[in-house]
Amino acid sequence: MTDWLERVYSAGNDTAKLAEVYDTWATEYDGSVGSLGYTNPSVVSALFARLMTDISAPVLDAGCGTGLIGWMLSVVGYENISGIDLSAGMLRQAEKRDCYRTLATAVLGQPLALPDAAFAGVVASGVFTVGHAPASAFSEIARVLRPGGVFVVSITDPIYESGGFRTAIDALVKVGEWERAAVSGPYIPLPGADDGHRHPGRVYAMRRL
Ligand SMILES: C[S@@+](CC[C@H](N)C(=O)[O-])C[C@H]1O[C@@H](n2cnc3c(N)ncnc32)[C@H](O)[C@@H]1O
Repeated sequence: MTDWLERVYSAGNDTAKLAEVYDTWATEYDGSVGSLGYTNPSVVSALFARLMTDISAPVLDAGCGTGLIGWMLSVVGYENISGIDLSAGMLRQAEKRDCYRTLATAVLGQPLALPDAAFAGVVASGVFTVGHAPASAFSEIARVLRPGGVFVVSITDPIYESGGFRTAIDALVKVGEWERAAVSGPYIPLPGADDGHRHPGRVYAMRRL
C-alpha cells in the first residue's frame, strides 16, 4: 500500500505518469484505501449534502476515481451525477457502480470540454493533494458552476499555502466569482497510513455568485 502512495504522490506534474499509476492501481484501489480508513469521500459528501439539498441538481464529481463519492451521494438520493478523471482505468471501475449519468476522461488544470454553468455542484475528494491536480483548475471549476452552485473540495494542509490553493480561492473571491461558504475541521484522510502519508486536510466549500 505504501508503495502505491509513494507512486501517486511522486508523479509530480506528470499527468501521463499519474494516469498510468492510477490505471494500474484501479482494481485494487477501493480495498487499499479502505484498509487505511480513507475519510475524504465521507467528509466531502457530508459537507456537500449540508449545502446542496436539491437531489435532482446536476453534480460533477471532479477526479471521481472509482466512484466512492458518486456511490455515497447516489445512495442518499442524488440522481444526476457526472464524473471526470484522468485515469481511464479508474473510470472503468466507476462505471461498474452504475450511479453516474456520464463519465469522461479530463485533466483538471487544462480547459474542460464542459459548458459554462452546467452544474449546481462540483465535488472533489482526494484530488487536490500532493502531486495531483493543481490550484489553477479552480477557474475552470468556477466556470462550469451555475450561480448559487457549490464547489466542495478536500485539500491537504501541506499544499494549501505552498500549492497556491489559498491564493486561487481568494483570487476568485476577489473578482466576485464565488464566496467562501464553509470549511470543515481538520482531519486525517488516511488515518491508517504510515506517518509520512498521514497528511492532515480540510474540506472547503465555495458558493458561485
Ligand atoms: C486519491 S484518488 C481519489 C478518487 C476519488 N475522488 C476518491 O475520493 O476515492 C485521486 C483521483 O484523482 C485523479 N486525478 C489526479 N489528478 C488529476 C487531474 N489533474 N485531473 C483529473 N483527475 C485527476 C486520479 O486519476 C484519481 O482517480
